[in-house]
Amino acid sequence: MQTVHEPASLRAVIRGWRAEGKTVGLVPTMGNLHAGHFSLIRHARARADRVVASIFVNPTQFGPNEDFERYPRTLVQDQAGLADEGCDLLFAPEVSALYPLGPERAVKVHVPRLGEILDGASRPGHFDGVATVVCKLFNLVQPDFAVFGQKDYQQLRVIERMVADLGLTVKVMGAATVRAADGLALSSRNQYLDDRERAVAVEVSATLRQMQALMAGGHAREAVEQAAMARLVQSGFVPDYAVIRRAEDLEIPAPEADLTSLVALVAARLGTTRLIDNLPFSAA
Ligand code: PAF
Repeated sequence: MQTVHEPASLRAVIRGWRAEGKTVGLVPTMGNLHAGHFSLIRHARARADRVVASIFVNPTQFGPNEDFERYPRTLVQDQAGLADEGCDLLFAPEVSALYPLGPERAVKVHVPRLGEILDGASRPGHFDGVATVVCKLFNLVQPDFAVFGQKDYQQLRVIERMVADLGLTVKVMGAATVRAADGLALSSRNQYLDDRERAVAVEVSATLRQMQALMAGGHAREAVEQAAMARLVQSGFVPDYAVIRRAEDLEIPAPEADLTSLVALVAARLGTTRLIDNLPFSAA
């Protein structure tokens, strides 16, 4: 597997592949790769002639008091893992390569409403950073498709909306969340948890399953959300939200609406670690 750091080198490799008529799949990441990321690489590997992964800890999607500085950077280990999974090319740019004017002066992609609610409200500007960097990566790589984890459910929806609204030709694919044996969704941030917190973290996915079961049992959405918040607080979390939303646009489902396509979403802090997870389901 080849690693390139400069956009010009990336474009040169991809130009060569395109001249040979190869299809290209992209897996954007921030590195510190785990089994969840490798499942995205395998998803791409099964569908494209050539697979590009990117590793870039994107400063514009972190708030001022968030974990940009301490976010784990493990490039050598990541390169070995990507090579093992059959990734063809790793793009690992410096900040200046993606933000030539500096992150503060960068042109921004903003996705109104969908990028402003839930995590967009808890982490103002987060989805501007995500949409902006993903738009840049799509423009540089010009892949046939790109694969994102469904664990970042709102992110996936924001990227789909950006692609549709800007008329980009890349196909956006979501791949299933990979979980530890006890149900905890894999995340690079799980390693911030100490042993006690790691044991408690399972409550996030357990709460989501309870939300699904209560909705399927005909309970009112508001009561289900309140029970979920109470359970998380009782377990020692400081929850940002525990909500049931329409899967397609993350808006509140009307009581009389069709309940076939819903998603339960949780974001909650445990100590200094913020965990997110979700569970798409039908309550019809
Ligand atoms: O999900 C991530 O790792 C990041 O948000 C992404 C999509 C690579 C953009 O920086």
